[in-house]
Amino acid sequence: MHQTVRSSLAKWLVAAVFAGGFFLRTLPSQTSSRNDFHFSLVGDRTGDAQPQIWGRVWREVDLLHPDFVVQVGDIIQGGSDEKAEAQWAEMRPLWKQYSHYPIYLTPGNHDIWNKKSEDLFVKETGRQTHYSFNYQNAHFVILDNSRTRDLSEEQLKFLEEDLKANKDKNPKFVVCHRDYWITPLKAGNTDIPLHKIVKQYGVQQVISGHGHRFVRIVRDGVAYMEVGSSGGTMIGKWKNGDGFRQGVFYHHIWVRVNGDKVQFTVRELDGQFGQGRMFDASQWDENGPHFEIGDPGISGKPMT
Ligand SMILES: [Fe+2]
Repeated sequence: MHQTVRSSLAKWLVAAVFAGGFFLRTLPSQTSSRNDFHFSLVGDRTGDAQPQIWGRVWREVDLLHPDFVVQVGDIIQGGSDEKAEAQWAEMRPLWKQYSHYPIYLTPGNHDIWNKKSEDLFVKETGRQTHYSFNYQNAHFVILDNSRTRDLSEEQLKFLEEDLKANKDKNPKFVVCHRDYWITPLKAGNTDIPLHKIVKQYGVQQVISGHGHRFVRIVRDGVAYMEVGSSGGTMIGKWKNGDGFRQGVFYHHIWVRVNGDKVQFTVRELDGQFGQGRMFDASQWDENGPHFEIGDPGISGKPMT
């Protein structure tokens, strides 16, 4: 075995043993002036996980062979220091099964609620609570608003300094769990610190989770998107009469990055849990879908 490889492997083993944690894979940072890759966005697993949904989402994601996966938070049910360790341990087989690509986690309010759960998140996942990474010429910033509704001063400072240091990267993605931007943006208010920063540094996309609902709002050229549920329950929303048009459907998102062009293909689960609809996210705005949501095989005219 090559000396450098052996040495880095040994360092990794030592780090893993000392930390006592289960580490998600991280690829060495890829830098290239050109972008040509795919990644997957996976939504909330909790609250009230539906394990059969989460498992199906990951199976589909895996069959698409993404270069990496970004998950938007709320993996464990959490909220209990006594149960948290066992809940993270339940996730280890999945991390192991899909260890052939990196999985970048975002801390959600179900994952972190105090210092102890923060330490456990870092130990179990090998991810910090906030961090950034590059893939080819693209830049990703993962922020922590697990314990705050919006982003704290500290998080905004980290974001601004990070974007300043990576201003030449393109495209740029900012991810945080809580979707606190929905209310002000829908009310026509763009006077929020996050928006000022992402606009200034040319961020194309802000991504969140938390609401178990697909949402997409574009303001000043910045697209904000909430990835809906990839396993967290939506029973309450269904009872209220919300459905596909309101973004209430199980899904994951396949992202194509080619140069500075980014395309998000939203894939709804099918079978018992949905109708398997796929659509380009740009066909959805704050008023919902701009396409025929029924079966195109029934509503469309045959092309003959
Ligand atoms: Fe949440």
